[in-house]
Amino acid sequence: MVEENPYETMVASVFDDRDVLTESHQPEIVPRRAEEIRQYAHFLRPATNGNTPDNIMVYGDTGLGKTVVTKHIMELTVDEAENNGNVLSVIIEDCNNDSAFSYTREIVNRLRDDDEKDFPKRGLSTADAMDALYEELNKLEGTVILVADEIDHMDGVDSFLYEMSRAESTGDLDEVKLGIVGISNDYSFRRTLSAKTSGSFAEHELNFGPYDAEDLRHILEERAVDAFRDGTLDEAVIPKCAALAARDKGDARQALDLLKMSGIVANEHNREQVAVEHVDEAKRRVERGKVAERVDDLTDHQRNIIVAIANAEVQERSPVRTKEIYSLYSAVCERRGDEPLSTIRSVREHLKKLEMRGFLTQIEHNNGRGGGKYHTYELSMKPQLVFDVVRTGDE
Ligand SMILES: Nc1ncnc2c1ncn2[C@@H]1O[C@H](COP(=O)(O)OP(=O)(O)OP(=O)(O)O)[C@@H](O)[C@H]1O
Ligand SMILES: [Mg+2]
Repeated sequence: MVEENPYETMVASVFDDRDVLTESHQPEIVPRRAEEIRQYAHFLRPATNGNTPDNIMVYGDTGLGKTVVTKHIMELTVDEAENNGNVLSVIIEDCNNDSAFSYTREIVNRLRDDDEKDFPKRGLSTADAMDALYEELNKLEGTVILVADEIDHMDGVDSFLYEMSRAESTGDLDEVKLGIVGISNDYSFRRTLSAKTSGSFAEHELNFGPYDAEDLRHILEERAVDAFRDGTLDEAVIPKCAALAARDKGDARQALDLLKMSGIVANEHNREQVAVEHVDEAKRRVERGKVAERVDDLTDHQRNIIVAIANAEVQERSPVRTKEIYSLYSAVCERRGDEPLSTIRSVREHLKKLEMRGFLTQIEHNNGRGGGKYHTYELSMKPQLVFDVVRTGDE
């Protein structure tokens, strides 16, 4: 018998270059942020003329283009400086939960192109790392812009910013002029800085708001040109992805993920075109993926509790009181062979945590004049999603 070749029965992929829809792809055109780009350029202009640019803080929720716009404007700014005959270096480094020490060390090692001379991981202080950084920066000519993405995630950020923003006046940086750009999705970041750091950092602020459906449509259309083969997208697909993401948080990352997943679904169904039904399925899959990630972080008890409430929901008994949750939860534990928590009180503690993490909604009830308050709970997602990701056998 001849073995079947699965590729022979497949129609051509709808994608031309799927990677264009991923995070690491830097698009050449960044639509719908013209005003933010213009403002950014104003703050950065001194850097194109060989001067010290202003420090900037960029704020905005996740997926609103802070990183992509920053990379874009930095390219334009470097080009402009070059046209003016000035030297500008831009260093973009993500703070991803690093300490000020490892962040500084990371940049030092990037600037020292010889691996042999790597700054050591242990044995030296943050002050030593900062000195090494000044030394490397002083070797660059002209102006330097340091971009600290996700700056609110840096441990020890206050003194880092204090030191860096004073380095020119203290004489630590005497060969180059330095501007600092911080990016954060925590709007309260500024308030966490000490008065003396706020004073010397003295930055401008740039705020990124949510995209509406039309913004997202433009962004997706621009990407789709390179991502998909001609004629493989039904004309309703992009508007639908844009509308769904706009209705949620106006997040471009979500819109792009949805469009990419829609293409994957169409391929799996062996279709030559991505259709609106594929977007519906993609939406379910993307949601399921997100819920699954969050469920992974829960304890077994918490998982059993949300399964119990999902059961109540399909039996139309929701919202439910703590006491009833307790007995439903105990039944789930029994079916799964888990030892249940022995008190209602400990279940109540978990309910609070689950509410805080967005799995449940709590409703408060007042018992009229007789006094007494009690709470009921309901699931803040579709019960089927819970069954899909917890794989309970319940349904
Ligand atoms: N105006 C835009 N034009 C083109 N692509 C965009 C635009 N805005 C966002 N994107 C794309 O959406 C995705 C998310 O954007 P980005 O990474 O810049 O978000 P962010 O604001 O930095 O979010 P986070 O706070 O989570 O880091 C990226 O793939 C980016 O390329
Ligand atoms: Mg970002």
